[in-house]
Amino acid sequence: MVCKGDVIEGKVLDFALPECHGVLKKNSFVIFVPLVLKDELCRVEITKVKKSFAFGRTLEVLEGSPYRVTPSCPHFHEGCGGCQLQFIAYDEQVRLKKEHALSVLERIGRVDLRGVLFEDFIPSPQALGYRNKMEFTFGERNGELLLGLRPANRFWDVVDLKTCLLLRQDLAERLLSVFREYGKRYNIPGYDPVQKTGVLRNLLVRYSGTTGDLLLGLATTRFELPEKDSLLGTLRELFPGLRGFIHIVNDSPANALIFEEKRVLWGEPYLFERIDNLTFRVSVESFFQVHSTLCGALYRKVREYLLMSGPVSLVLDLYCGGGGIGLFVADTVEKVVGIEENPRAVEDANENARRNNCLNFTCIPGRVEKLLASSRFHVDAVIVDPPRAGLDKKVVQRVAALSPRTVIYVSCNVGTFARDVALFQERGYTLLRVSFFDLFPQTPHFETVALLVRD
Ligand SMILES: C[S@@+](CC[C@H](N)C(=O)[O-])C[C@H]1O[C@@H](n2cnc3c(N)ncnc32)[C@H](O)[C@@H]1O
Repeated sequence: MVCKGDVIEGKVLDFALPECHGVLKKNSFVIFVPLVLKDELCRVEITKVKKSFAFGRTLEVLEGSPYRVTPSCPHFHEGCGGCQLQFIAYDEQVRLKKEHALSVLERIGRVDLRGVLFEDFIPSPQALGYRNKMEFTFGERNGELLLGLRPANRFWDVVDLKTCLLLRQDLAERLLSVFREYGKRYNIPGYDPVQKTGVLRNLLVRYSGTTGDLLLGLATTRFELPEKDSLLGTLRELFPGLRGFIHIVNDSPANALIFEEKRVLWGEPYLFERIDNLTFRVSVESFFQVHSTLCGALYRKVREYLLMSGPVSLVLDLYCGGGGIGLFVADTVEKVVGIEENPRAVEDANENARRNNCLNFTCIPGRVEKLLASSRFHVDAVIVDPPRAGLDKKVVQRVAALSPRTVIYVSCNVGTFARDVALFQERGYTLLRVSFFDLFPQTPHFETVALLVRD
């Protein structure tokens, strides 16, 4: 047992993902400590004690790991929640994620790894500057407007950023400065998610490195932006690639970027992105993979798995977003039907089919769980790419009831993916191949692509 305020010295026994905590023990009592690596010797102060475990903070690393590096970002030690792993060498981040992925598959997925072809854990070609989208947050401290990212586990707070290395750095720096200065000049208060007061909420940045397009969204509570033309003039002068500037009205009490109203102040409410030889229109509120470079590799893997499943007349692309995966595989099958609930993404998907001359792709609007219950599909293969929560149990049942030869599962959350693999196994599917892609360097997240076949 330990008490709050105790200072202990100990060796880090493990590094836990996705929590990004080092694990220490004091007389078999477990202590979770951020910012320490396996085998490091550290001095730790206990900050919170629960029934069977405690949390601590590092006072000093007495013997450091060879994988510890100095974070490149000046805001890392302010607790910015954007990059929890920046103090770990990139190769080691990849090794840790791979070890974590395989252990989750064994523990939660009850997968016998001896029967699975684990193909690879593909690292990112860039460990920084890879993101094509950032959602910065406004806030206030002592009457001072802040613009940056929330610290991990503190939804009410903001780390005021001068730079962000996840996005192209020069772009991030100019944008953060322009919008912070704009808010300050006109005394527009930052939004407080606890009191639910204030105006400025988010700055949404979407940038395509392949087309040079930039799309900006400024989210506020219901409010008339002052001197819009002057702000727009500055943006157009500084960012020649600007394709659109949108005022997003969000009065929702939820701590999330919700498009209650979209006012296009200039240009278009979308940008264009290229992945391999396909061009995608991406609306400001549609999903698109945040790492354009590695997204192509991920889509190619889905295509490779689909080609392994023999001739396919109909493939379902469930949770298809703007049609990225479906359009990538369209030339290998007779027909692709996508299902997507976001109406703007549905429009994007159908527009992207036309634009890329994929006439055998259609996207149907609606929720997957409802459409699978009410429609009859005779499918050879099903591709699923759900949000982090994974598939609803009913969706697994309904996909299995269609009896496709092949299910290709794309996931950004290995925990829910493994849970769903266990459900598919109960329904007669076997996990044959799995690949991982590090679409989110400096964070505990990554993408999984898996091939399941009917026994
Ligand atoms: C992880 S994204 C995948 C997008 C796409 N496959 C791609 O690669 O760009 C998940 C998508 O599922 C959609 N979605 C979430 N829940 C849904 C549901 N119940 N039914 C249909 N679509 C849903 C979201 O709007 C989002 O576009």
